[in-house]
This record gives sequence, C-alpha cells and structure tokens, in this order.
Amino acid sequence: TAISEFKPGLEGVPATLSSVSYVDGQKGILEYRGIGIEQLANQSTFLETSYLLIWGKLPTKDELADFEHEIRYRRRIKYRIRDMMKCFPESGHPMDALQTSAAALGLFYSRRALDNPEYIREAVVRLLAKIPTMVAAFQLMRKGNDPVQPRDDLDYSANFLYMLNEREPDPIAARVFDVCLTLHAEHTINASTFSAMVTASTLTDPYAVVASGVGTLAGPLHGGANEEVLTMLEEIGSVENVGSYVDNLIATKSKIMGFGHRVYKVKDPRATILQQLGEQLFERFGHDEYYEIALELERVVADRLGEKGIYPNVDFYSGLVYRKLNIPSDLFTPIFAIARVSGWLAHWKEQITKNRIFRPAQIYTGSHNETYVPIHERN
Ligand code: CMC
Repeated sequence: TAISEFKPGLEGVPATLSSVSYVDGQKGILEYRGIGIEQLANQSTFLETSYLLIWGKLPTKDELADFEHEIRYRRRIKYRIRDMMKCFPESGHPMDALQTSAAALGLFYSRRALDNPEYIREAVVRLLAKIPTMVAAFQLMRKGNDPVQPRDDLDYSANFLYMLNEREPDPIAARVFDVCLTLHAEHTINASTFSAMVTASTLTDPYAVVASGVGTLAGPLHGGANEEVLTMLEEIGSVENVGSYVDNLIATKSKIMGFGHRVYKVKDPRATILQQLGEQLFERFGHDEYYEIALELERVVADRLGEKGIYPNVDFYSGLVYRKLNIPSDLFTPIFAIARVSGWLAHWKEQITKNRIFRPAQIYTGSHNETYVPIHERN
C-alpha cells in the first residue's frame, strides 16, 4: 500500500454503502432516510424517527403504536443491573456507568440470533427502552437515592425526565427534549457509529455494539464536547471576555469546544434548530445569561475562523438547552448516547445484513530483523 493512500483519520475514505442518513457539509443539509432533519424535528417524535432509521421507512399508525407499546413495557431494568450500578463510585462519570451497564445487558440477553428478525426487534426495543432508565438510575443512585420506576402512562421523553427529576415535566420541556433526541439520533459514519459498525462486523451481540458506541462517544472530540462547552462558557464568564478568550485559544492552537466539524464547513443545521429550541425555553422559563456569551462566541469565532469553515456544531447549543431543563452537565453526553442508540442500531442492522468483517490495512513504519537482547545485556 502506498503511503500516499494513507488518510489520517480516514478523512474522505468511504467505509460503507449506507442508506441510513446523508450529510451535505457545504450546504448544511442533514437527512435521515432522505427526509430533511428540519421536517423531522418539527413534525416527528424521537421514537417514530428511530423506527424510520432502523426499519428504513416511516411507520404506519399501527406499526408506531406497537413499537411504542413494546418499548413502554420494556423500560424496567433487572434488579441485578440496578444493584451492580449501586456499586459504581458516585464520582465516576455517567458515560462510564452507561458503557458498563449497556454491556451488562448482554449478560442477560445473550441468545444471539442475528438471522432472526424477532431477535433483532427485541434487541432494538430493549436497548431503546432500557438505556434511558439506566442513565436516570445512575443519576439518582449517585445522589444516594433509590431509582424510580418508569411510568407507563408517560411517553418516552416525558418518562425519562420524570425518572431523572422524580416529577412530571412541563409538556414544553418534554417536547423540546424529544426534539433534541431526534436531532442527535443519527449522523452518518461519525466516530462512534464507525466503532459500532466495526464491532457489529464481527457478528457479536448488539449490547456489545452499543457499549462500544458509548465508549467512543464519550471523548471530548466527539459527544463529550457538549459538556465542555458549558465549562468553557462558565470560564469565559462575561461577554467582554469572549474576544481575548478566543484569541488565546487560537494562539495556543487549542480547539474551541462546540465548533468545527469534519464534514460541515458551514453552521451545523442541528445547531440552528437547537438554538431556536433554546430561545423557546428562555421565553418560557426565563433567560440564561450564558446565551449572550454563546452568541458573542459564535460571532467572534466566525470572524476569526469562518474562512476555515469553523462554525458551531451540534454540541454548541445543546448544553444551553439541557441547562434550562435543569439537567446536570455530566449527563449531556449520556443523553446524546440515549439518542444515538437508534443510529447505532440502524447501522448495526444494515451491517449484519450485508456483512464483511472490517479489517483495514496499515503501513508498517517499524524495523525488521532486529535481534532479541537478553535483559541483563540491555542498557
Ligand atoms: N477550534 C479551533 N480551530 C479548529 C477547531 C476548533 N474547534 N476545529 C478545527 N479547527 C481548525 C484546526 O486547528 C485546523 O486548522 P489548521 O488547518 O490551521 O491546522 C483545521 O481547523 C482543521 O481541523 P482538524 O482538527 O484537522 O479537523 P478534524 O476534521 O480532524 O476535526 C473536530 C473535527 C470536530 C474533531 C474538530 O473540529 C474539533 O476538535 N472540534 C472541537 C470539539 C467538538 O466540538 N467536537 C464535537 C464534534 S460535532 C458532534 C460530535 O461528534 O459530538
């Protein structure tokens, strides 16, 4: 293999044929199964969108009702998983707790039958149903409380917010949260989806596939950026400090969190929608002083780095939305994971139906014919 063929970070290298989603990074277009993200954000729900992503078509009324029903009654987690989570250190990051718990599901549902559509359906339902319960359970248990049981009368997003806060959410908050999940559900072959696909290609079980996606999403260059954005806004502290803060990061060649994207060279369409959702929440629940800092940051970064195509990505405004929903900042990335489970599963299903194990090539840069030196002769 010629070294000229090597693309660090596999930039631009096609790794699969996929019909799940489409991104045009120059025009700022994102489609799930051909449908524009704006339409889905305005008109669909997270579960309907998940169905679309995983089964490749919008469900009929009955299909959606069955899917929602199955998920609603699979939300509970086994007491052994709850007890295992109780032993996790409360200082541990919720993404690590989630990765471990997602993998633990495989201990209970290991009957792998990838050619059986019923097995696929059950795994999809279980993962979509139980991941939010596990995120909420860890949150309550690390505060020293028992987790609350899911409520069957509440829909997907309202139930998650209920489990997290132990009270029913405002309907606007629940709707905004649901749209956030829709926006984060899928995004072509990003790092965590690629990692999930590589795992899937060994024909292992879907719990391992999702656990590997969670582990990859956790990093600050990927999903972890949403938490870091809030830390950054806190550090900046006021609108006047934005200019010098950005100049300092640029001078030290540091990355500004929530900006830049391998594919988008314009503002991420999801950032635009999340910003509007934030504004809706500020109108309803009161203003957030960080919003002014964020607006100024967007302006200054566009001014300094716009010509390089550095604009807000999905992680820039999501933190402000979640903050207004009173969600602690270290749960932002687990919430991203709750949503992305549907994208990972859509790619898992696509991968195993036309599978070939991932096994890329390397360009060896080491030496040959070295001699083993006994330890007492080494210096
Ligand atoms: N702040 C300052 N400069 C940036 C940034 C940024 N956030 N992102 C890219 N650049 C510059 C970079 O310094 C480089 O400049 P030069 O060509 O002069 O060396 C150029 O833009 C290309 O950057 P890159 O690092 O080669 O780009 P990449 O495609 O490898 O990385 C990225 C993409 C998302 C990892 C990167 O933009 C980044 O680290 N952003 C901050 C972290 C972040 O917000 N991540 C969330 C990504 S979107 C959703 C998600 O996955 O969660």
